[in-house]
Amino acid sequence: MGGIGNAFGPHPNNDASFNWGKTLDQFQINGGKRLKGTIRVNGSKNASLPLLAASLLTEGESVFRDLPDLSDTNHMMYLLEKLGVSVSRGAEGAIRVQVEDELNCHAEYELVRKMRASVCVMGPLLAKRGKAQVSLPGGCNIGYRPIGLHLQGLEALGADIDLVGGDIYLKAKKLRGAEVFLGGPFGSTVLGTANVMMAACLADGTTVIECAACEPEIVDLADYLNRCGAQITGHGTPRISIEGVDQLRGCEHQVIPDRIEAGTFIIAAAITNGDVKIENSRLDHLMALIDRLRIVGVNVERSADGIVQVSSSRRLEPVTITTQPYPGYPTDLQAQVMALLCLADGNSVITEKIFPDRFVHVAELNRMGAKLRKEGPTVIIEGVKNLVGAPVMASDLRASAALVLAGLIAKGTTHVSRVYHIDRGYDRIEQRLAAIGADIRRVPS
Ligand code: EPU
Repeated sequence: MGGIGNAFGPHPNNDASFNWGKTLDQFQINGGKRLKGTIRVNGSKNASLPLLAASLLTEGESVFRDLPDLSDTNHMMYLLEKLGVSVSRGAEGAIRVQVEDELNCHAEYELVRKMRASVCVMGPLLAKRGKAQVSLPGGCNIGYRPIGLHLQGLEALGADIDLVGGDIYLKAKKLRGAEVFLGGPFGSTVLGTANVMMAACLADGTTVIECAACEPEIVDLADYLNRCGAQITGHGTPRISIEGVDQLRGCEHQVIPDRIEAGTFIIAAAITNGDVKIENSRLDHLMALIDRLRIVGVNVERSADGIVQVSSSRRLEPVTITTQPYPGYPTDLQAQVMALLCLADGNSVITEKIFPDRFVHVAELNRMGAKLRKEGPTVIIEGVKNLVGAPVMASDLRASAALVLAGLIAKGTTHVSRVYHIDRGYDRIEQRLAAIGADIRRVPS
């Protein structure tokens, strides 16, 4: 057992080849191998980040099981250490956290800049320590990502908010419950809901969040907080109600499986016409993907032993997909399904309704022989017979996953550069895909 240490140094999985943020490793993929075997889905990245932040609210130790070993989670643990939390990796990789001192309330620009989800320490710091100083996140390569709704929600709970020198300063002697509306032009906000829900746990009185995010990661966060002594109801619906309590204690919590990782593996199986079993996945979190894939000709079924089996027909049908807040089709699986639809027999249409500019993968897929045409927030995908290996560049997490999927089926060799993006959200994806038959390896740039 030991501290997490510096998240910018070697990855704690002790893989000497891993050095996130310092090297520009590539994946070299020889396409055309049919995937066959069993692959396990890890705990959810997007559940883990707010869960770790929520530990700032608690007294005593929390233990998170199945928290994935990723550069993003290590980054969040590094931020927690800076904020006075002791963090260690215990038996079987469980992460133990316990607040030790509450003096520092500042999430610096260097940390927020590298991982936007750092903003979800804002609600817990404000509620527990009475103040928070968090850098305003800057631009992001999936498009404009404001946090106005987070601030609107915390202000409704009584926070005084100032912006000075690029940092947001929040303070409140004691937060008080309120009615908060978190709907924006693109629906609710996931991390905004997390921030307000966490802060409201220690407020005086009742908070009602209307137009709350319904994502499974919010339900997981509420389940953890309730086990710590919070009184949250309605999570998983657009109306969450929170009765404030005086104190939260730590507890043990099993992180939910990563639905985006599961979806990525399902598409990997489909694109290689493989025979793949997927362990530790929640199909009830993936209904929108499964619904669309059924039209394409990909079947996803759970067997009696709880393992998911993916099978697909050789001829893929085109489909129309619009990304939406949960339970609609997730934006985080938009790029991956586009790689699959490149090979459908006909024209598909994907419209992005969460991040209208999240299309950096389009030009890269076209370099591999895809026929994609972007028109505003929509991409028209004219199916082609084959993709062809090429050097391509990853420039955000899910776009990188899409390029890996395309490389798995492309004729010849694909080099995906800057794979530190994919390491943010998939633990050693190349080793896990290689274990089920992919010809993929990490090579220095
Ligand atoms: N929005 C506003 N105002 C706000 C906040 C958001 O207008 O104050 C808009 C955004 O611009 C966007 C929409 O609301 O159009 C949804 O954004 P949201 O706030 O829900 O995104 P997030 O909470 O910052 C999380 C995930 C993202 C995922 C989105 C949408 C984490 C750590 N991140 O981000 O995950 O794409 O929800 O589902 O949970 C990823 O894992 O690759 C990833 C980017």
